[in-house]
Amino acid sequence: MGDRTYPIYIGNNLLQNAGKYFIRHHIGRTLIIVTDENVARRYLHPIIKSLKKKNYSVQTIILPPGEKLKSLETAGKIFSQLLLWNIERSATIIALGGGVIGDLAGFVAATYQRGIGFVQIPTTLLAQVDSSVGGKVGINHPLAKNMIGAFYQPAFVLADTSVLRTLPKRELICGMGEVVKYGIIMDRQFFEYVERYLVNALAGDEKILTHIIERSCELKAVVVSKDEKEGHLRAILNFGHTIGHALEHSGHYGFLRHGEAILYGMIAETQIAFELKMISFEQKERIEQMIQRIPIPSLAPLKLKYSKLITAIKKDKKVKDGSIRMTLPLKIGKVSLPMSVAEPFVQQSIEYVKIFGI
Ligand SMILES: NC(=O)c1ccc[n+]([C@@H]2O[C@H](COP(=O)([O-])OP(=O)(O)OC[C@H]3O[C@@H](n4cnc5c(N)ncnc54)[C@H](O)[C@@H]3O)[C@@H](O)[C@H]2O)c1
Repeated sequence: MGDRTYPIYIGNNLLQNAGKYFIRHHIGRTLIIVTDENVARRYLHPIIKSLKKKNYSVQTIILPPGEKLKSLETAGKIFSQLLLWNIERSATIIALGGGVIGDLAGFVAATYQRGIGFVQIPTTLLAQVDSSVGGKVGINHPLAKNMIGAFYQPAFVLADTSVLRTLPKRELICGMGEVVKYGIIMDRQFFEYVERYLVNALAGDEKILTHIIERSCELKAVVVSKDEKEGHLRAILNFGHTIGHALEHSGHYGFLRHGEAILYGMIAETQIAFELKMISFEQKERIEQMIQRIPIPSLAPLKLKYSKLITAIKKDKKVKDGSIRMTLPLKIGKVSLPMSVAEPFVQQSIEYVKIFGI
């Protein structure tokens, strides 16, 4: 990423020493922390204390939690607050929270006065392994998710693994969806590591989680540094997402969380690869067995209708000229570039995936 390269600091108890990293990166004196209520309650105080010790002036914007927040309306409210406070271009916005806060605060940082300083302090596993890496920021539109945004890199990312102790189990599972994905698309050894230590990771073992976060960031960074703006290569990160997004949509974004939908999406898309004779039965089984060990809700209550799912799939931004395109696994650790898949294979894979879940 050339001059847009930035470090990701990963470790425990980093928040209490946040100020040190701001000094190291010559961040200007004015900071605005954007966070949500759940995170603020637990982690705002130690960060502010550390920043004030280093003579930073800190303002905070605390929002209610939830995906609904990632809207033009909330962004507008933040812009108004920044203007009322006379925030200048030398200021820096800190996104303290999960992917919702990271995307929203990053979008504001990218656009306020055509771009001000930006630092990410991700507090969910998903944000630490995925959304804080790669520079995508944005908001939702009532008609579609993540449709308005920018590529905007932070000065640095501070991923404190200690904060994962308070993360609800379901959120941890959502992050694991992306972790499993990295193993399947790029790194067999990493897949095997996650396979071996899955139970420990889901129980919140910090040593295991730290390795998982480090390797996931490295793997995502390899892809993003070669293809920042989503040409061909970055599309491999979308493995499991074409069908996953449609499943998420069919539950109106309330029934399945994103990471859970991606886990199902990976089962379905691996089944397509198997039907197309691109992956062996043994490798497909191993992927399924790994995913089945992660507790995710059964799809049964969704009463999935293929006609609705296919409409959602065709709306996906990965569909080109009406043809459904996806990245498919060739073996654990290697995927194809996006390729066209005929509709009957998609339909069959959705029937197949219905039998999974707890
Ligand atoms: N920019 C990207 O590249 C990218 C990639 C993947 C996902 N995303 C986006 O990320 C968003 C999802 O992010 P998410 O899964 O982190 O959800 P989230 O930000 O909604 O956080 C999940 C919940 O956990 C709470 N929380 C956060 N940290 C906590 C902690 N340490 N302890 C206790 N509770 C905590 C939050 O308040 C929230 O209720 C979606 O909007 C998605 O589009 C972006």
